[in-house]
Amino acid sequence: MSGGQRALKTRRVTLRTLAAKKDAGEPIVMVTAYDHPSAQIADEVGVDVVLVGDSAANVVLGYDTTVPVTVEEMLMLTRAVRRGLASALLVADLPFGSYEASDLDAVRTAQRFVKEGGADAVKLERGGTTVERARAVIAAGIPVMGHVGLTPQAAASLGGYRVQGRTADAAEALLAEARALEAAGCFAIVLEAVPAAVAELIVPRLGCVVIGIGAGAAADGQVLVWHDLLGLGSGHVATFVRRFADLRSEAVRGLSAYADAVRSREFPAAEHTYTLPADELDDLRGRLGRESDGDPGA
Ligand code: KIV
Repeated sequence: MSGGQRALKTRRVTLRTLAAKKDAGEPIVMVTAYDHPSAQIADEVGVDVVLVGDSAANVVLGYDTTVPVTVEEMLMLTRAVRRGLASALLVADLPFGSYEASDLDAVRTAQRFVKEGGADAVKLERGGTTVERARAVIAAGIPVMGHVGLTPQAAASLGGYRVQGRTADAAEALLAEARALEAAGCFAIVLEAVPAAVAELIVPRLGCVVIGIGAGAAADGQVLVWHDLLGLGSGHVATFVRRFADLRSEAVRGLSAYADAVRSREFPAAEHTYTLPADELDDLRGRLGRESDGDPGA
């Protein structure tokens, strides 16, 4: 099969695919990924959207918050994910400090993620001036996913990692932010950590795709962080996370077994080693034997 034929056979998820799923009431599956093998697994499973989230800062790079992660770090992860994906839509988070100050910053950073990272779309956090940045990036031809509710880049000003929209005023403000992002042209919005009852009121009032995380079941789709849903992390897990596997325990078990096998000399066994022809080995032994007799040239 030629490369062209293979490409025709691959179902590529596009913005239209997502809009059609929303219209059909078919839930959209989104997950974060930060490396090549994870992206391949997400594609194999038929995930619709893969997000190179700036949660990478916490879950793969070991920072305390998402604030320190850099454009270069995020670009490296995005490129790795791009190389592993053939089907899912690839969205990359623009990191804190790379888009807020001006439309020019936002467009230039978004262009890097598309051109150098291979992203299909970018995600920006919050409403306010971000709405203008989103509009500018979309005008430059790059699809934008918004993100409202708990926006980790602004955790300090939100008073920490707290549920958002818990008063009528706050919920109305959330809806206003989401509507402004939709009006700016965002094809989708992530709604994070809001009461399910608030999401139930917000989602039907938006025409774009709404992806929930900790926002109940009303959204058009759900997103979770790779390490959370697969049980790879070791720290606090948010209420909204369900662990669908316990890969950390499995990794600890496997690594301990490896360490034990090395220490007991049970590994490597004969089946893990290479051989050479017996006559070559005899020849080599003969040469080295002579060498140990102090006659290397003989
Ligand atoms: O960075 C991230 O992983 C995210 C998702 C949780 C939506 O923004």
